[in-house]
Amino acid sequence: MSNAAEGKAIYEMDREHVFYSWSVQGSIKPLVIESGEGSYVWDYDGNRYLDFSSQLVNTNIGHQHPKVVKAIQEQAGLLTTISPSHSNKARAEAAKRISDLAPADHKKIFFTVGGAEAVENAVRVARVKTGKRKVLAAYRSYHGNTGFAINLTGEPRRWANEYAHDIVHFMGPYLYRSEFHSTSLEEEGERALKHLQDVVMYEGAETIAAIIIETVIGTAGIIPPPPDYLAGLQKLCRDNNIAYIADEVMAGFGRTGEWFAYQHYGVEPDIICFAKGVNSGYVPLGGISMSTEFSDYFEDRFYPGGLTYSGHPLACAAAVATIDTMKEERIVENAKLIGETVLGPMLNSLAERHPIIGEVRGLGCFWVLELVKDRKTREELAPYGGSSPAMAELGAELRKRGLMMFLSGNRVNVVPPLVITEVEAKDGIARIDDALAVIDRYYEG
Ligand SMILES: Cc1ncc(COP(=O)(O)O)c(C=O)c1O
Repeated sequence: MSNAAEGKAIYEMDREHVFYSWSVQGSIKPLVIESGEGSYVWDYDGNRYLDFSSQLVNTNIGHQHPKVVKAIQEQAGLLTTISPSHSNKARAEAAKRISDLAPADHKKIFFTVGGAEAVENAVRVARVKTGKRKVLAAYRSYHGNTGFAINLTGEPRRWANEYAHDIVHFMGPYLYRSEFHSTSLEEEGERALKHLQDVVMYEGAETIAAIIIETVIGTAGIIPPPPDYLAGLQKLCRDNNIAYIADEVMAGFGRTGEWFAYQHYGVEPDIICFAKGVNSGYVPLGGISMSTEFSDYFEDRFYPGGLTYSGHPLACAAAVATIDTMKEERIVENAKLIGETVLGPMLNSLAERHPIIGEVRGLGCFWVLELVKDRKTREELAPYGGSSPAMAELGAELRKRGLMMFLSGNRVNVVPPLVITEVEAKDGIARIDDALAVIDRYYEG
């Protein structure tokens, strides 16, 4: 069978038997991917795609990094699986490396299989330790698709899944669409913080176990916070015995040009949720890092949570190799440099040529183009939580140009692997430029 014929056979088998996430099953036409390397993947017809999506913003180290692949192969030869109740080298080493990257008073890591379970366990730790129940989360947020995490999520994927309770949503800072009529980032930070303080007051601090927030909002907009907002949030938490949970599932592990995004903002969360970039998703892994104030609480008390695959050896071996390789190859530094010298300046210059770009935001390898019908009204090119013919056409044009991108609502997320080179980054932006030229006609301003 030729590769193309094999690809077609796989497609047919897939469409007959595979049920997809977040989709109308009959309306999807997935690409069948055969292989990957660095910033590229190939389909069975031999087409090469430049990956500007990092899949679901997880392949921070790029595709098929040989050192990580080798570590998984070696671990598979030694011990593929073991119960979480037994210790193993890969798990201990992964936990040590992650806690070394976390704030100095974080010593313990609880492992999960992905980000949503990390969020579930962060909330559990906070509730048991504080003895309180409510959790505050932002409307513009995504925290995962398990019972509590999807209810914490502010964006529309929550609506069909509202089974959990004791969750209160608040408005986070978002200057471009300010709920607070702010005209500067500083003002937005101050007013959004005042709003959060008010929510805590009205809900009653003695009822609130935790505030969870993505350090840089990811899927719901790639929105970096105003400079002092998180410091104010941390103080609000400390003053009221509320756990500050940073959801770094998407923003962590180098995405923003620091190991963890909170490092940009001078804060130290009590609990950090991670997944995705921790091992680039080569084997599913997530978890939480806790300050000793929280982990010590369970030294002589029962922790009421666990998973069969907590700290899976293959996933942990991949994490160890990923972290070591990211350090050796200065991959986090590369993310910062590419953001400052290529993505930031070039995306901003795209906005000069395409009025349909309402705002460019981001840092590191974590950028977004927010598309609008009119710069004055800022009306979105697709409605909140929905799609539009213009966005669908843009998606098709990008794919036609061999660019794999992750679009959401009216936003083009520019989130390449952190190993991307200057040449690749420039090439990708040139392809976005071409694709935007096709949809510029939807601009109404
Ligand atoms: C910020 C954030 N938290 C949690 C999750 C859930 O992670 P997972 O899909 O691995 O459960 C995601 C996934 O995109 C995320 O972006």
